Amino acid sequence: MDITKTAAIVTGGASGLGAATARELVAAGAKVTLFDRDRAAGEALAAEIGAGFAEVDVTDEASVKAGIATAVGHMGGVNALVNCAGIAYAIKTLGKDGAHPLDTYRRTIDVNLVGTFNCIRLVSEVMADNEADPDGERGAIVNTASIAAFDGQKGQAAYTASKAGVVGMALPIARDLASLGIRVNTIAPGIFLTPMLMTLSEEARAGLAADVTFPKRLGRPEEFGRLARFMIEAGYLNAEVVRLDGALRMR
Ligand SMILES: NC(=O)c1ccc[n+]([C@@H]2O[C@H](COP(=O)([O-])OP(=O)(O)OC[C@H]3O[C@@H](n4cnc5c(N)ncnc54)[C@H](O)[C@@H]3O)[C@@H](O)[C@H]2O)c1
Repeated sequence: MDITKTAAIVTGGASGLGAATARELVAAGAKVTLFDRDRAAGEALAAEIGAGFAEVDVTDEASVKAGIATAVGHMGGVNALVNCAGIAYAIKTLGKDGAHPLDTYRRTIDVNLVGTFNCIRLVSEVMADNEADPDGERGAIVNTASIAAFDGQKGQAAYTASKAGVVGMALPIARDLASLGIRVNTIAPGIFLTPMLMTLSEEARAGLAADVTFPKRLGRPEEFGRLARFMIEAGYLNAEVVRLDGALRMR
């Protein structure tokens, strides 16, 4: 897809990896609308980079539909979706405070997995009406999993389940949407320096960086943004999951 003809919704676009992706896409000439439940941060970034913003809860059908209407109004259409909205808790299956709370488990699945699917199904409805390019393409979708989908650590049962779901559903969704000319790819990030990570101490962050094979540092959000852009542009890439992790294998 020609990036200068791209009109992208970026969920979780107010912060971290979503914000970096929005910056990368706008700098490359794409139109972008941020979806986030954080209105203050979303509006501030949108104003800074010249994007649109809609206050959206990705788990809610009416909220996503209203956000899509805002995005279409802002950009004149939608042909790309980057799903970055997500949450993470570290809670053991059975910890010193007892059994893992079921509501936290369900909430993690709801935002990370159901929210991703909710946006895909509703945005693809709009993409289906796009005029196809000479390759037959009408849209490109990029999802965010995590390397926790493959090597989840202690305390990551809910998070790993949600991200393994994102990886697992990618192929059937790519098959479902193939006749419409919509591609679906997935980034599985290692450990990136975002607000989600800034809740950890500097010592804990240094410990995580030391485990990375090469280069021995945390990922930079702009490196995620560049891969998301590549996945939108690369017309032959479909149903692929790319680890972006400096060969980190979590123990
Ligand atoms: N930072 C990392 O190291 C890392 C590693 C692997 C995967 N990821 C994944 O990357 C994605 C982005 O993470 P990040 O580090 O940028 O986190 P972040 O906390 O900086 O950003 C997440 C954004 O999602 C938004 N959000 C959360 N729930 C939402 C909802 N229900 N509806 C709409 N917006 C919602 C938040 O308001 C926030 O702006 C997440 O899916 C995360 O699981 C991050």
